[in-house]
Amino acid sequence: MTLALEATGLIAGYGEADILHDVSIKVERGEMVAVIGPNGAGKSTLLKAIFGLLPARAGEVRLGSEDITNHTPDRIVAAGMSYVPQIENVFPSLSINENLEMGAFIRRDGLADRLEHVYEMFPDLTERRRHAAGKLSGGQRQMLALARALMLDPTMLLLDEPSAGLSPKMVHTIFEKILEINEAGTAVLLVEQNAREALSFSRRGYVLVAGENRLEGDAKGLIENEEVGRLYLGES
Ligand SMILES: Nc1ncnc2c1ncn2[C@@H]1O[C@H](COP(=O)(O)OP(=O)(O)OP(=O)(O)O)[C@@H](O)[C@H]1O
Ligand SMILES: [Mg+2]
Repeated sequence: MTLALEATGLIAGYGEADILHDVSIKVERGEMVAVIGPNGAGKSTLLKAIFGLLPARAGEVRLGSEDITNHTPDRIVAAGMSYVPQIENVFPSLSINENLEMGAFIRRDGLADRLEHVYEMFPDLTERRRHAAGKLSGGQRQMLALARALMLDPTMLLLDEPSAGLSPKMVHTIFEKILEINEAGTAVLLVEQNAREALSFSRRGYVLVAGENRLEGDAKGLIENEEVGRLYLGES
């Protein structure tokens, strides 16, 4: 088994308080993995600690064979991992094209080719490449955030609630696109409120509760798990 990402024993938080208590997750190369759990469980905090936006107070993060614990986000991006935050994930005053170019800020060559490749994956964006990102619908904006994260052709993609605030139809469309990205070879760690949908698109999943690993396993098993169903999938 070759791992794309492995976080082990992470402790992180804000101010005096620890939010993550010894959290561990792993993603195999090319795998898609969901992290679900209630509001405030620490899902976003986990992604921030992995991506170097919040210091890990203990534990280790490895990207492939490289120890990236507490590296800066720009070094982590250069090492092959991209991150789409839960909010403010595009520059609203910049055009679509400018947003995509920003996503490739450390790329020295091949920008034009990569832009065309990404536009081919997102035809809706191609038609609007000169439009300001702030004028896009919620779904288009999430597509742009995904597209921007792909500009450096990452091996590993961290997504924080890509379907938040979207209509049910758009939620499905976004997940289909994420699956397409995954099937093209990028490993994905997906944090989601839409737990059932996220698990149904993923191979494995983790349930995070109060900053701790509660359950993990193959996604199908988690969907069928009674506790998961009752607590997170809206079943009685
Ligand atoms: N910048 C911050 N400063 C202080 N506390 C924070 C900060 N961000 C989050 N927290 C706290 O950390 C805990 C975990 O928050 P986090 O955003 O990681 O949860 P989450 O699982 O992503 O929740 P949601 O499903 O609402 O997005 C919460 O108690 C939250 O109030
Ligand atoms: Mg969150």
